[in-house]
Amino acid sequence: MAYKIGILGATGAVGQELIRLLHERNFPISELRLLASARSAGKTQTYQDKSWTIQEATPDSFDGLDACIFSAGASQSKAFAEEAAKRGCIVIDNSSAFRMDEGVPLVVPEINPDAAFEHKGIIANPNCSTIITLMGLYPLHQAFGLKSVIASTYQAVSGSGTGGIVELEQQTRAWAEGGEMKKEVYPHQIAFNLLPHVDVFFDDGYTKEEMKMLNEGRKIMSLPELKVTCTCVRVPVFRAHCISVSAEFERPVSIEAAREAVAGFEGSELVDDPANAKYPMPLDYSEVVNCGVGRIRKDQVFENGLALWVTGDQVWKGAALNAIQIAELLHDKGKLKG
Ligand SMILES: NC(=O)c1ccc[n+]([C@@H]2O[C@H](COP(=O)([O-])OP(=O)(O)OC[C@H]3O[C@@H](n4cnc5c(N)ncnc54)[C@H](OP(=O)(O)O)[C@@H]3O)[C@@H](O)[C@H]2O)c1
Repeated sequence: MAYKIGILGATGAVGQELIRLLHERNFPISELRLLASARSAGKTQTYQDKSWTIQEATPDSFDGLDACIFSAGASQSKAFAEEAAKRGCIVIDNSSAFRMDEGVPLVVPEINPDAAFEHKGIIANPNCSTIITLMGLYPLHQAFGLKSVIASTYQAVSGSGTGGIVELEQQTRAWAEGGEMKKEVYPHQIAFNLLPHVDVFFDDGYTKEEMKMLNEGRKIMSLPELKVTCTCVRVPVFRAHCISVSAEFERPVSIEAAREAVAGFEGSELVDDPANAKYPMPLDYSEVVNCGVGRIRKDQVFENGLALWVTGDQVWKGAALNAIQIAELLHDKGKLKG
């Protein structure tokens, strides 16, 4: 069985990694339909030794597709997802457009795979920082019962798409050469700086990105009472997000049991040997399938608490890879043909 698969946003940071990972993971494809804006229409892309022409996305673009992975931002998802689903094309959406909608599963395959089969045409891929955090937290939840979370993120510029990568590169070069730094993607210089500001601010002082950790975490883990407070920070790192987490659990914790739980969890690996300066870092987790978890220690504030550090490639596990894993789940159960 081979599928007709579309990628909306094929020219973007996530789109390009989708094309690469579909190839590397040998996903069975008979037709690859690459969609983007009018700016990219007519450009070509090689996939499995064949040249595919990029097309401008229109409602008709989804006719005949078995599935399409959407990676062109929430407004494009809102414009096209329901139309695509009506035409029998299963949408796996990387944007925030439908994540909290009832009837739209929000899926991390290692955590809630069965939710994927309850879709009505659209499946949402969670927020990148949330996925990576949960790859460290979920095995601990299984071991001790999660109650509350305090988290700070360290988010790479590729999380803002190709524009973020270009901006950090340009500013770093300008700094070295004494040139002018351009600020187009971020409100302040990102090179040699940190911005405690990811996505828009709400009236209560939290950002939209920070609230995703709470709302999406609750939905994915089916923990409606979970408490989360989060500070999201953009850092001058090209790729792979990190999250510092303090978590409170229902039951008494032990470091040994925590390490065992993380080490045995598919998709995560334990890198926790501080005496030898071994802990997960963005450079080691760029273009890597698994997320790294380390610095596990007793939290000094919570009674049954653990502190930990999680790192993962947000373009892969936070977006492209997770979306493909969802498609693989459907394929494995014979549920991908439209
Ligand atoms: N980057 C990450 O780490 C990450 C992680 C999780 C989720 N996401 C989500 O994934 C989506 C894509 O992010 P990205 O980082 O890949 O962004 P990006 O690098 O800026 O790419 C955006 C893509 O959307 C396409 N696009 C823009 N306007 C369009 C239009 N009017 N019609 C059709 N296509 C259009 C662009 O095509 P053109 O080249 O033709 O303009 C490009 O392919 C976003 O929803 C983002 O929130 C990203």
